[in-house]
Amino acid sequence: MEPVAADYEAFKRRLKGTIGLDLNYYKHQQMHRRIHQWLQRVGAASYDEYIKRLQADPEERQRFAEYLTINTSQFYRDVSVFKEIEEKVLPELVQRYRRLRVWCAGCSTGPEIYTVAMILEELTPGVRHSLLGTDFDTGALTQAEEGLYSDNLLNSLPAKYREKYFTQEGRMWRLTETIRDRVRFRRHNLLEDPFDTGFHLILCRNVFIYFTPEAQARLTKQFSDSLVSGGYFVVGNAENLLEPEMADLKRVSYCIYQRA
Ligand SMILES: C[S@@+](CC[C@H](N)C(=O)[O-])C[C@H]1O[C@@H](n2cnc3c(N)ncnc32)[C@H](O)[C@@H]1O
Repeated sequence: MEPVAADYEAFKRRLKGTIGLDLNYYKHQQMHRRIHQWLQRVGAASYDEYIKRLQADPEERQRFAEYLTINTSQFYRDVSVFKEIEEKVLPELVQRYRRLRVWCAGCSTGPEIYTVAMILEELTPGVRHSLLGTDFDTGALTQAEEGLYSDNLLNSLPAKYREKYFTQEGRMWRLTETIRDRVRFRRHNLLEDPFDTGFHLILCRNVFIYFTPEAQARLTKQFSDSLVSGGYFVVGNAENLLEPEMADLKRVSYCIYQRA
């Protein structure tokens, strides 16, 4: 199949109605290439044929949505960033507020928000903070709730957490119920759905990287508005907020911003 620009524009419009994702907010070239590769892989002769297939087949919709929204994640991903969250950000926040509200947006299968849950359990044993993980991809959220992970997702996690909070099941690792119980998961489309407010810490890591600069700027403002004053916003290693001061955010270290 040869890509035709006009057909691709029509495909994007119809896709929004079919799976609810507005690809205009995602970086164009990257998305276009990935979609083209997928259509070849599934043997679709045209965009039109494939959209009809999506409309008729919910499982194909799920598979396609999973493919589009890349799900890679890891516990304690980017060690230096999580060390800072563990040693500075969370101790400071639990001193200031007894119960924290933490949101991990684009949480995928859950490793990041569960990492925060384990750190908080060490800092404030037994305290039930409000921990929320959201993602567009419902398949990833189902896996997050199951809390069963392969070895490679735990590579960066300090041994003390693995020993205390996981049990081995064959070649997989099951997170203990104590930690699973601490986190709620919910479907949320960052580009369409309203944002809750009053968070002390928000993580949105390795998600911005897929969005256009305009979408990034809009989301940065929305995230900032969702934080309490003095709350923290953490992005991914390869992500830099453009003009954070426009959203009342100050960069306090690598990947970490604080609301004025
Ligand atoms: C590469 S993963 C990042 C996972 C995790 N934050 C991390 O850094 O380890 C990107 C996640 O963003 C989610 N995502 C992409 N577009 C989204 C949207 N519009 N709304 C909510 N989540 C979205 C994907 O489903 C995927 O789970």
